[in-house]
Amino acid sequence: MERFADARSFIEAMRPERAVFGLRPHASGRAAKWFLDNFPGEVAYAYKANSSVFLVGSLYGAGIRNFDVASLPELEDAATIPKAQLHFMHPVKSRMAIRRAYHEFGVKCFALDSEAELEKILEETEQAKDLQLYVRLTVPSKDSGLPLEHKFGIADEAAKNLLIKTRQSCDELGIAFHVGSQTTTTDSFQLAFDMVRKSIVEAGVVVDAIDCGGGFPARYSEEQPAALGEFMSVIEECFESLPISHDAHLICEPGRALVAEAESLIVRVDHRRGNELFITDGGYGALFDAAHLDFVFPVRLVGQEKVPLNRCKPFQFWGPTCDSVDYMKGPFYLPDSVHEGDYIEIGNMGAYGRAIAGNFNGYGNFGEVILDDEPMYSMFADEPSSLAQDV
Ligand SMILES: Cc1ncc(COP(=O)(O)O)c(C=O)c1O
Repeated sequence: MERFADARSFIEAMRPERAVFGLRPHASGRAAKWFLDNFPGEVAYAYKANSSVFLVGSLYGAGIRNFDVASLPELEDAATIPKAQLHFMHPVKSRMAIRRAYHEFGVKCFALDSEAELEKILEETEQAKDLQLYVRLTVPSKDSGLPLEHKFGIADEAAKNLLIKTRQSCDELGIAFHVGSQTTTTDSFQLAFDMVRKSIVEAGVVVDAIDCGGGFPARYSEEQPAALGEFMSVIEECFESLPISHDAHLICEPGRALVAEAESLIVRVDHRRGNELFITDGGYGALFDAAHLDFVFPVRLVGQEKVPLNRCKPFQFWGPTCDSVDYMKGPFYLPDSVHEGDYIEIGNMGAYGRAIAGNFNGYGNFGEVILDDEPMYSMFADEPSSLAQDV
């Protein structure tokens, strides 16, 4: 893959027709190293967030060996990584996926949130005696950009019964939860651990492992989420005070926090209509979260003179397809001089953008380059780079 100092030098050299991912593997490597150094347990990368070999390679290079997979295709892919420890943490799996995970790929670790799923796992593994089974609890989503509390999880009496039943059928019993993606304060983790404690006490079972999921925030604007160090302290304190076996282990599954900073998307403006810009990717592509969840990713106009943020104007984006839901309301702040033919770098797009992108209207075929400069915002760099600097 070609390598450039930054988006400006790439655009000066190439002026691409299609949207291009600018990869910064140094940023994902740095994030992984930070998690491995600071999380008080094991770190499993949530493979769904971005499976680019360049980024996965950078995580591996930093020392990540545990991977949380959510489907059979992800499992097949991640199983090619040398020495990978795979955790199948989707609470609802097909029989074939369970069977192949256990018998073919040697996966022992599964999540579940119902007695039906427990039966399925036991049947398809032929009542295996070496399973690590994690009961996924429902926990509240507070200060989360993408709450996950309604689809999965079990609570109250049903959780108690499932914990007791699962304990009888596994080698290691774990409890898993996910506070929701892009959670910007530590309160959710505190609340979640309170619920874990309550469930353990009510069920009266020995618990061997806690999986506190993902949800750690990336930085998308001048607004700072709570520092990642604060998340680590709260999690460690909560974990230490749980009534669990003395050698119980702790694991987390960050996706977004490890890869968000490691990719930009470089798009071209094909038309300006007032404060609306028609660009070469959108809601059916890597900008799904901007279109459907109103995420406001940081942006900068590539190769223009410096313009401070307070002298920029708010813009909305339209994606390239003919569909009118292909719309991103922003506001995205850019210099008023922006016009047709300009390129925009959309920053910190590494989590879920590439993973979600489809091919509607023939789009979705992205270019890729490596960029050596810093991401627009960072939770990890000593000196966060300023958004205005390259504008
Ligand atoms: C089970 C599970 N683990 C981990 C993650 C990664 O979460 P995040 O990207 O918020 O860290 C997800 C995201 O949906 C998930 O469903």
